[in-house]
Amino acid sequence: MPEIAAPRGTRDILPDEYAARRWLLDTHRSIAESFGYRSIETPVFEATELFSRGVGTETDIVEKQMFTFDDRGGRSLTLRPEGTAGALRAVLGAHLDQAVRPVRVQYEGPFFRAERPQAGRQHQFTQVGIECIGDRSAALDAEIIEVAWRFFEALGITGIRLQVNSLGNAEDRTRYRAALVAYYEPLESTLCDDCRRRLHTNPLRLLDCKRDAALVERAPVLWDSLDKASRAHFTAVLRDLESAGIDAVRNDRVVRGLDYYSDTVFEIWHDALQGAQSSLGGGGRYDGLAELIGFPAMPATGYALGVERILMVARALGTLPAIEPAVGALVCSVEPAQAEEAARVARTLRSSGIHTVLDVADRRLDRKLRTAGRLGARVAVIIGENEEAAASAVVRDLEGRSQQTVPSAVLADTVLRLMGGGE
Ligand code: HAM
Repeated sequence: MPEIAAPRGTRDILPDEYAARRWLLDTHRSIAESFGYRSIETPVFEATELFSRGVGTETDIVEKQMFTFDDRGGRSLTLRPEGTAGALRAVLGAHLDQAVRPVRVQYEGPFFRAERPQAGRQHQFTQVGIECIGDRSAALDAEIIEVAWRFFEALGITGIRLQVNSLGNAEDRTRYRAALVAYYEPLESTLCDDCRRRLHTNPLRLLDCKRDAALVERAPVLWDSLDKASRAHFTAVLRDLESAGIDAVRNDRVVRGLDYYSDTVFEIWHDALQGAQSSLGGGGRYDGLAELIGFPAMPATGYALGVERILMVARALGTLPAIEPAVGALVCSVEPAQAEEAARVARTLRSSGIHTVLDVADRRLDRKLRTAGRLGARVAVIIGENEEAAASAVVRDLEGRSQQTVPSAVLADTVLRLMGGGE
């Protein structure tokens, strides 16, 4: 029978990589917490409508990237392609905004998009993100960008290219759409199929088209369509970023691939990633999303970052932390007769906080010691007939290669001392 492989576009996270991910997720959580963000978790599948209404039917995500299925009652469900709509639904559904505003939340977990898999693009991937819900202050747009910035600093990742832009308010975008349509309409016959279709449904998406860079280059810029208040909002964001010491590059072409944004939007790029997958993350303000998904209007801003892509960059830059050995001590018996005593000794060591593997294999002692080395154990504890009789144990320092017999009463202390690099 053929071996069953993991589904296309998915990856197994094996122990060494798991440790690196844990470091990344823990760092994100602790940076977000230092700004007052609290963790939440929402379901990995949601009503399909949450995304079709929230993210927008004319977006790549909803048009061609969702894993959608019917439940047994015939209701359409979708594996979440992104976390913002779900987080907002959760926060507003539980009325958290009625106690304090803004509500600051952070999340981490799996997301799903049916894109063609390649390096940095998977069907199942992981995001960390934050959402700040209930206030439309420009200072909060700057705050979320600062959280992302401090996160990359804490990871030791340099070379971050922060791209910021403003999409203005709904009227600004209506004006801008009209300007784009006026620009593209005479060129309609030269456009690709996607662009021709979107010209009249979602012309902003034409700026994402990779086929004709020069065409995009010459297109009208958003800033020219922004009214005074929108310009003032964005100027305030830029000022706050500057005073926080954050290098932001204004980029008129950053319009984001999801429909719910208004005012500030941003993306974080890194040159260690290539091509369309160069984005480590992105986000921005989404003041209109709450109403789109059936709640009263509620301003909000947030971001999400791709964990696998950040790990690729950290690996390329060599900033991943060294993997700590998972095992401190290996305990083994010389003969099966001392197996029970070895198990008891292992329990004692664990209760002193030492990560201890009990070797239960029926094989020669030298083989057992070799296993201890492969596991990264610093110390092997050996129980033979004499040791059991004398309530003692042989402690072998696998790095220093020395060996001593110690009474059970001081065994844990001896192992701890050796693990600390002592003696
Ligand atoms: P997004 O730009 O669609 O934004 O995704 C954020 C990041 O998730 C991307 O920059 C990328 O690093 C990662 N990502 C997306 N798709 C894939 C994939 N197929 N494989 C690997 N990584 C991927 C959002 O999702 C918004 N919810 C961000 C946000 C939060 N806006 C406001 N609040």
